[in-house]
Amino acid sequence: MTDRPETPPTHRRRPRYSGTHPRRFADKYKELTPEKYPEAIAHVRARGKTPAGQHVPILVEAVLDVLAPRPGELAVDATLGWGGHAERVLERLMPGGTLLGLDADPIELPKTDARLRARGYSEDALRIRRTNFASLHSAIGEAGWHEGADVIFADLGLSSMQIDDPARGFSFKHDGPLDMRMNPKRGLSAAEWLARTSPDLLARAFADSDERDADAQRIAETIALRQGQLRTTPDLVRAVRDALHGVVPDVDVEMSVRRVFQAVRIAVNDEFAVLDALLRQIPMCLRPGGRVAILTFHSGEDRRVKRAFAEGLRDGTYGEVARDIIRASPDERRANPRAGSAKLRWARRASALSVRPDRS
Ligand SMILES: C[S@@+](CC[C@H](N)C(=O)[O-])C[C@H]1O[C@@H](n2cnc3c(N)ncnc32)[C@H](O)[C@@H]1O
Repeated sequence: MTDRPETPPTHRRRPRYSGTHPRRFADKYKELTPEKYPEAIAHVRARGKTPAGQHVPILVEAVLDVLAPRPGELAVDATLGWGGHAERVLERLMPGGTLLGLDADPIELPKTDARLRARGYSEDALRIRRTNFASLHSAIGEAGWHEGADVIFADLGLSSMQIDDPARGFSFKHDGPLDMRMNPKRGLSAAEWLARTSPDLLARAFADSDERDADAQRIAETIALRQGQLRTTPDLVRAVRDALHGVVPDVDVEMSVRRVFQAVRIAVNDEFAVLDALLRQIPMCLRPGGRVAILTFHSGEDRRVKRAFAEGLRDGTYGEVARDIIRASPDERRANPRAGSAKLRWARRASALSVRPDRS
């Protein structure tokens, strides 16, 4: 003990923002600490918005309906995100079941892990692994589920937490570094990818995201002229606007900005290749009679899921597949604009006896 008087702890005020509706992500401190401010969260949700740092799951009842998880079963959520779908599936698996939650994102995953553990789920009920879903088969093997899972679910793309966080660089609406990696510790950032990719490949990537060929070429050439200088999200927005200025109407330019951001994100995360890998592995990861459901958000994803399920039905791997896509109701779309582009497809693994011999 010393006889010096104790220094009182210095009180630090939170930096103030002007106005009542903070625009900067870091200033939305009430939304970012939902446990302390439940009324603020309810207020944001009532306005049809997603609170910062959270994600509103899409088509939850339809997902539960087609996956039909039952007590004691084994389920995989290949895109855990905020854990919204996972929590509802977990409720149905209890007692005795287990959910294996995968996600590639090292930034959001520990927060989801902590939140779900705080609900009381032990390692027996919930296992969480940070991995790309392209490694689904090994993740299931490591879990010791050698006969496969009863249920597999994937909700593709990004969570609202990732989109809203300017530091991740996913959104043209926020000022941030051009990163866009699901796992910022792996691979090239968007800035690096743009600096290293030839104009022809850039143009093809933009056209694959439904940009008109001539506009895709113009944007690619503008980016190539600024090679190495595009470091932030506004830099990329400006490049697209400059490329199309006076060539297409302003409203269309903003759609091009969206498409280019989506194309760059798909390329940086190799999204089509990892989705193809997931779709190839699902049949061998499902028990006979097991169910899979996938939520997609654009035509490049949906086309792949549709084709994989149709091929599986044809060769007898799947006993039944969705005849039609399931979409969100107008009410859900109003409450959550992200639901507008969502398409849900499902398939059921054939029972072992009905698998037809390989005809190739
Ligand atoms: C739309 S969110 C999922 C939201 C979740 N269903 C919920 O209710 O909270 C998609 C998640 O998938 C993750 N993800 C995207 N691609 C992935 C991949 N190839 N492997 C693993 N996780 C991936 C993203 O990091 C993101 O957290």
